[in-house]
Amino acid sequence: MIRVLSVFGTRPEAIKMAPLVRVLADSPLIDSKVVVTAQHREMLDSVLTIFGILPDFDLDIMSAGQDLAEITTKALNGLMGVIERLRPDLVLVHGDTTTTLAASLAAYYSGVCLGHVEAGLRTHDKYAPFPEEINRRVAGVCADLHFAPTEAARANLLAENVDPKAIFVTGNTSIDAAAGLVRPNYKFKEQALNSLDFSRRILTLTAHRRENHGQPLREICRAALRIGSDFPDAEIVYPVHPSPAVSPTVHEILGKKSGIHLVNPLDIEDMHNLMARSHLVLTDSGGLQEEAPHHNVPVVVLRRVTERPEGVEAGCLVVAGNGEQSVYKAVAELLTDSELHARMSKAENPFGDGFASQRILSGIMQYFVGATALGRPNKKEGFNRGLVQRG
Ligand code: UD1
Ligand code: UDP
Repeated sequence: MIRVLSVFGTRPEAIKMAPLVRVLADSPLIDSKVVVTAQHREMLDSVLTIFGILPDFDLDIMSAGQDLAEITTKALNGLMGVIERLRPDLVLVHGDTTTTLAASLAAYYSGVCLGHVEAGLRTHDKYAPFPEEINRRVAGVCADLHFAPTEAARANLLAENVDPKAIFVTGNTSIDAAAGLVRPNYKFKEQALNSLDFSRRILTLTAHRRENHGQPLREICRAALRIGSDFPDAEIVYPVHPSPAVSPTVHEILGKKSGIHLVNPLDIEDMHNLMARSHLVLTDSGGLQEEAPHHNVPVVVLRRVTERPEGVEAGCLVVAGNGEQSVYKAVAELLTDSELHARMSKAENPFGDGFASQRILSGIMQYFVGATALGRPNKKEGFNRGLVQRG
């Protein structure tokens, strides 16, 4: 048995690790354990409930408004304890959050093999997204196994001299997670959405990134206000992130405005059913850039740069920046140019085919079986390098 410890802590990591955790649990060759940092609390728990995941360890580190250093140190200390106790053969992390950073360091400090899921995404701008670009680069240098969602991500890793044999192109597990979530006649758990008139043009909006906090978020909200008033057949739905750096600003500018619906964070079923019924998605989210094209919905990216250039090349995404005028212009164009909208809607989703988790499992098997055959540490000792000095 290969002993695998999957680590996650935020909503997007949980959503994208959930299908993999399921595949690992179903494999007779894997002993699968899960530790959550709970960097997020309600938003994480909602995902755990829907996907039926009961973590083996819960570090419960979230507190309101904590800063990056506090999250990093709490997660790092907690994860060191769990990794040292379990001594797994493989630690799996996802993406680019503070939990990812801390878990990558903890695996490295403990001399345990690290696998990075959603590896190789880069903007090459260390402040956009902040701090995620650096988090994923650190995960990349600590990792022994890199599960790149696309060829472009693989190319980024090769450019950083990662061993080609350690890279597996898998597709993104976000598309695996989407399977079966959208249903006809779906009843939303968020009641406000059941009263929406879906014959009108629904614009789903989310914005929460740290680099958009402050002035950019205000400008994005003002662009939404103008779109609401200039396009009366459009309804804007904004599930608002609970961060104290986001929610008060959004409510102050967009609260109680006609045609604008502010709702609490949606669970993943509501979210996909809303997206699938939307005319456009406006977002600074990473995951939504992958999921909306899966539902044939064009995405206006509310950022200066994206680490998902495949989506721009395929014609699913347009990068609008985060200023009021540029966001307004990009959205207005898609609301007035129906050919452009149709073209973007029909563009093929480059992010995955729903089988990424299976490919990751195959990659793990290939690596461990191959490595054992090469005389590396045996199954009993696993890949523990015993670097940490105790006592
Ligand atoms: C984190 C990730 C970001 C990801 C986002 C997904 C980092 C550095 N960033 O940013 O990449 O896009 O998660 O949402 O890890 N909060 C709650 N309840 C919750 C979750 C959050 O109240 O269930 C509030 C808390 O006050 C918390 C704040 O939101 O302090 C911010 O959460 P944090 O994890 O620090 O950053 P995110 O902006 O969510
Ligand atoms: N999501 C959700 N409810 C919401 C907003 C987003 O379930 O109200 C899902 C979304 O479908 C995607 C993930 O959360 O799977 C993306 O998370 P987020 O935008 O918070 O983080 P990012 O992807 O930007 O890191």
